[in-house]
Amino acid sequence: MERDSMNQTEQKSYALIDGRKISTDIKKEISEQVTLRKQAGKKVPHLAIILVGDDGASQTYVDHKVKACKEVGFHYSMLRFADTISEDKLMKHIDQVNRDEDVDGFIVQLPLPAHISVERITEKIRPDKDVDGFTNRNFGSIVSKQPLLLPATPFGVMELLKRYEIPTEGKNCVVVGASRLVGAPLSMMLVEEGKATVTICHKFTKDLAHFTRHADILIAAVGKPGLITAEMVKEGAVVIDVGTTRVEGPQYKNGYSLKGDVDFKEVAPKTSFITPVPGGVGPMTIASLLLNTLRATELRNL
Ligand code: GUN
Repeated sequence: MERDSMNQTEQKSYALIDGRKISTDIKKEISEQVTLRKQAGKKVPHLAIILVGDDGASQTYVDHKVKACKEVGFHYSMLRFADTISEDKLMKHIDQVNRDEDVDGFIVQLPLPAHISVERITEKIRPDKDVDGFTNRNFGSIVSKQPLLLPATPFGVMELLKRYEIPTEGKNCVVVGASRLVGAPLSMMLVEEGKATVTICHKFTKDLAHFTRHADILIAAVGKPGLITAEMVKEGAVVIDVGTTRVEGPQYKNGYSLKGDVDFKEVAPKTSFITPVPGGVGPMTIASLLLNTLRATELRNL
């Protein structure tokens, strides 16, 4: 084969991991479960969403979550508070939702205003209603024999790998970003459930490319658009881009565009599988949230 045509073949060889499609499949499965529950006289899952302040991005995310609840036939409620609410007052509201027998699962949309401690608020959520999987109890349950409610975004990434039949056992996985919400729990899930060899890189990692170049599966979860360039990726690697940064500019239709951590155009031709942004991991976070809400409802035996 001539070199040029070989290059052309190589350039076309990657497959797109379609998070929108998988998320639609999962929503269909959930909505069938809701119908079966109704037929059996069981409770319809109820998700409550707490939103503090009027951050535009948070509002958009919450709108997507409400829309998803409607799609699968869940009940939902929205609790909105001004960004001046005190931490104590918010804690009291969380207590109420914890005790509300009709609510099966709830989330507190992040970020919170600076005067409120995310850690204190998160830990106030009843673990069996913590459908984001943010509490220490649920984080810890990743390494237990009986996981409770798994962190939603990492759960979504694992589900994408499974549904695309991408093997993880014995693979070199490099996770860039060690955040409490994504990088850290995902690394543990890749070890525990995925049986992978995992390297966690973070902002103090020296020579990041040295690590990423050895990855069979490279996961970027930093929030720095364009951080991962082609020379940092091994030929044939699987690349999962969890980064979703809103970049503002007059050239974009809504005034902003969502950018991943991976320079998609440059990196994609080197990969075997890659997630786009948007339409990759993003929709899976919501699918996982719905799956967790269904599971929380089942766990409560209602
Ligand atoms: N803010 C950005 N992503 C998330 C998420 O998955 N859950 C919550 N609660 N807040 C977020």
